[in-house]
Amino acid sequence: MESQDSKYIGRVLGLMRICCIGAGYVGGPTMAMIAQKCPNLTVAVVDLNQERIDAWNSDDLPIYEPGLLGVVQEARGRNLFFSTDIDENLKEADVVFISVNTPTKDYGSGAGQAADLRYVESCARRIAEVGGGDKIVVEKSTVPVRTAHMVKEILSESPNGHAYQVVSNPEFLAEGTAMRDLANPDRVLIGGGTDEEGRKAVEQVAGIYRNWIPEESIITTNLWSSELSKLTANAFLAQRISSINAISALCEATGADVDEVARAIGTDSRIGPKFLKSSVGFGGSCFQKDILNLTYLCGHFGLPEVASYWSQVVEMNDYQKERFVGRILDNMFNTVSGKSIAILGYAFKKDTNDVRESPAIAVCQRLLEEKADLRIYDPKVKATSILYSLGWTEEEASGRITFCGDAEEACQGTHAIALLTEWDEFKDIDFDGVFDKMSKPAYFFDGRNLIDPELLRKAGFRAFAIGKE
Ligand code: UDX
Ligand code: ADP
Repeated sequence: MESQDSKYIGRVLGLMRICCIGAGYVGGPTMAMIAQKCPNLTVAVVDLNQERIDAWNSDDLPIYEPGLLGVVQEARGRNLFFSTDIDENLKEADVVFISVNTPTKDYGSGAGQAADLRYVESCARRIAEVGGGDKIVVEKSTVPVRTAHMVKEILSESPNGHAYQVVSNPEFLAEGTAMRDLANPDRVLIGGGTDEEGRKAVEQVAGIYRNWIPEESIITTNLWSSELSKLTANAFLAQRISSINAISALCEATGADVDEVARAIGTDSRIGPKFLKSSVGFGGSCFQKDILNLTYLCGHFGLPEVASYWSQVVEMNDYQKERFVGRILDNMFNTVSGKSIAILGYAFKKDTNDVRESPAIAVCQRLLEEKADLRIYDPKVKATSILYSLGWTEEEASGRITFCGDAEEACQGTHAIALLTEWDEFKDIDFDGVFDKMSKPAYFFDGRNLIDPELLRKAGFRAFAIGKE
């Protein structure tokens, strides 16, 4: 697939060369889209992880994302390359995207809140070390405000004599719809320095996107506003979910229906209908991390009231997950010990194999703590990812957790079903058939309000949905 000759073809032809560090959920799809839409550019995606790069060079991609394989297949070997040869590709690049992970720090100062920037910092150091010419360095990873400052300092102190411009270009794609979001984004945001060189760098990055995105959707701004916009966008989106989830608790207590409330308020054009779907809680690599990060920043800048306002969004999300487990316990005679529970769906949302911060993790951990046995089925998540997310080894799981090949198999012989991801295929389950093969009374806890509770009750289930009596 990848040959040394083809890898540097861009250099031979004198075209703009992009190198993206980090072949993950952001770097992979974003670069595949850029390569597909801009056949006049060469794009090399590099990563330390050999296994990941090998998978990108095969047809068994390391991430599941609808439509991704076709785009990769079209561009790979033409102007899209995946490699572990980081230094050589960095050296050759005119524009370097940093798309490495920025997890929440789990050690030292800021543990549990601040973003861990060691991967971003090591990229900046590497870029400075390998040299190879002037470059534009683009922050793609979600980073705390003023990270660009750190990257700039490292690059400007470099003795190699090259000039670097740092640009922030946050990614707004959502997993599961990444290819659609990349092909047709609401906006592309590019922040940079306000001097002439800075403006030129912003223009150059904007030029990449102009290959397929209309001018009016490309917003340019300064560095700090761009960085903060990403954190704010995610905080606002997560806040909507926590707000409707807070109302779901009240609905369950009063007999109102949260989906009806969401429908009613969503028609107000000032509120709008999106991100009002009540659920067992939000997950994913961004929302919690970015809010914790925002909270940390507010604390750091002496704004404790603002910090506590935003941290409530995460607290409400934790409450929602715990409330879901509480409802299972309450309705199953206060104990699930020795009972078998089917877990339908483990990914943090449908159409992805990503389990980072999935609400399924907290729910399953709590059910295991309560001594339930679990039968888990997810169409795309591998057993190894599930065990890793739970912190269990295969030996520990033996006899307690069973991984099943389909939904019907997972439900067989169980006392209850907990639906945790809204995969479309779950709508087609034969619930009459499933009910017949379960212990009675058979319970159904729908953490996504995917299945009509009346249909489940007709089949014989004791059915419970979020925000419904
Ligand atoms: C999010 C942002 O949407 C995206 O712009 C940013 O670039 C990265 O973070 P992502 O986490 O991939 O994207 O998915 P998203 O669709 O936002 O869903 C996040 C979580 O919220 C999922 O667990 C989802 O199930 C949940 N959710 C979403 C709800 O519970 N209710 C909703 O109405 C919407
Ligand atoms: P995201 O969802 O932000 O894309 P991922 O964890 O899916 O996060 O991907 C980040 C990728 O970045 C991983 O594949 C990891 O191996 C890679 N990575 C982290 N640090 C470096 C580095 N210094 N050089 C190259 N790749 C790196």
